[in-house]
Amino acid sequence: MSVLHPITTPRAVLRLADVADASRLLRYRQRNRAHLAPWEPLRDEAYYTLDHCVQTLAESREAIRLDRAYPFYALDLSGQEILASFTFANVVRGAFQACHLGYSVDAHRQGQGLMREVLEAALPWAFHELGMHRVMANYMPRNERSGQLLARLGFEREGYAKRYLQIAGTWEDHVLTSLIRDH
Ligand SMILES: CC(C)(COP(=O)(O)OP(=O)(O)OC[C@H]1O[C@@H](n2cnc3c(N)ncnc32)[C@H](O)[C@@H]1OP(=O)(O)O)[C@@H](O)C(=O)NCCC(=O)NCCS
Repeated sequence: MSVLHPITTPRAVLRLADVADASRLLRYRQRNRAHLAPWEPLRDEAYYTLDHCVQTLAESREAIRLDRAYPFYALDLSGQEILASFTFANVVRGAFQACHLGYSVDAHRQGQGLMREVLEAALPWAFHELGMHRVMANYMPRNERSGQLLARLGFEREGYAKRYLQIAGTWEDHVLTSLIRDH
């Protein structure tokens, strides 16, 4: 995998997670704790420490090296703060050439079309640079914002999985969607 010059959009710079991001990642986690809690696995207190962020970033770099996952941050144009986070995860090669997409936007940036802007720039990268054929994204039925975002990006519903992921401590049903590369 050749990676990568940053991708720029009108409002953000997108680049792979880097070990130097620990402090800004910690700030992102801390200020979005309540915003993200309903949509993520349970986090213990250690998650909100610099050590944990350093560890996450080391794991991110290793996952990139192994072609397993590509965690990205969308930074403000000055490159100081994380505005949004997204990951092309669970990369499978061979006949599948597919991955899962996860994402979040800073609470103060929600409702501004920023996540859409970011993913509209990132998805062509996943298809053409990463060589993905299918990007899968799954959401809880009550996560209307996420469902609308995916629909606007062209993701199509493919199924419904009962008790699919443990979110905020509960095994939650998810709607399964995909975007397939338009060759
Ligand atoms: C899911 C999530 C990323 C969606 O964020 P979002 O800001 O609603 O998504 P978009 O970038 O598509 O923005 C759409 C909104 O911006 C508005 N908007 C404002 N300016 C816009 C512009 N220039 N272009 C497009 N939309 C614009 C749209 O009208 C829409 O608002 P509305 O939903 O109030 O009608 C966000 O809610 C989030 O981070 N949630 C917590 C984590 C999470 O759930 N992750 C996904 C798990 S599956």
